[in-house]
Amino acid sequence: MSTRPQQPAAATPAPGKLPLTELAELKAARQPIVMVTAYDAPGGRLADQAGADLVLVGDSAAMTVLGHDSTVPATIEEMLVLTRAVTRGARRPLVVADLPFGSFQVSDEDAVRNAIRFVKEAGADAVKLEGAGPTLSRVRAIVGAGIPVMGHLGLTPQSATMLGGFKAQGRSAEKALRLLADARALEAAGCFSLVLEAVPAPVARRVSEELSIPTIGIGAGVDCDGQVLVWHDLLGLYEGRTARFVKRYADVADVIRGALGRYAEDVRERRFPGEEHTYAMPADELALFEQAARATDGARGSRPG
Ligand code: KIV
Repeated sequence: MSTRPQQPAAATPAPGKLPLTELAELKAARQPIVMVTAYDAPGGRLADQAGADLVLVGDSAAMTVLGHDSTVPATIEEMLVLTRAVTRGARRPLVVADLPFGSFQVSDEDAVRNAIRFVKEAGADAVKLEGAGPTLSRVRAIVGAGIPVMGHLGLTPQSATMLGGFKAQGRSAEKALRLLADARALEAAGCFSLVLEAVPAPVARRVSEELSIPTIGIGAGVDCDGQVLVWHDLLGLYEGRTARFVKRYADVADVIRGALGRYAEDVRERRFPGEEHTYAMPADELALFEQAARATDGARGSRPG
């Protein structure tokens, strides 16, 4: 008999929403799962239109959207606003909200309370938590409250300082075995899926073969059950240093810069707005307006002070 806890009996999914159970079916069918981060409604909508299965409102928002140097400063309130925006845009994909640093470390009770906020106030379908160790009892508690949980192992940015910086993890036999043990423990705790970040490909393959839940890789090789990339990395919107595992599919920053430059030039040269961007009014109404405005002008001029 399996010792795995039951998957949460989540509320009835909205019409058209990808059922959570389909992720396991995709893994069984060896059909790669597509996840991408998003931080606003247009991002959620575009990810949906592009056929993403999962949209992650990552705490990477702290760096990509809010301009911080790490993910640590992201607050619950900020993440709630971003998640709410994404769930307004993404209809079919499951929206996973990253629990930010400080929102689940203190106690199981605190973690459950905060996870519930993401579901009730922001419409998230699931939450993601970094790490193993004390995170295991948080996962059990949140899953017990009926909220699906995605785990995250390998390079866990919230504890990058403890890990010695933003570097690949599990590169020695001992560390790879630890990672495998943590992955098994997260599955046993009830996670429906597991992100593997910056992990050697053979280690990620082994974890993916061992677990019955799907793994989602980022810098973890092609044998994970799915892949995730950060919106700004994928689209060329993040102009800081990016990791080796990033593949840039577009240079959207360049497109935006070009468009803004042309707009600024048009404004300065009075080429914008043109006739086609301007509202007219009936000639007789305009004449009445001019006449009345002149009269008011006169009255204002004669007023003392
Ligand atoms: O915050 C984030 O965007 C993430 C992904 C890199 C998996 O955790």
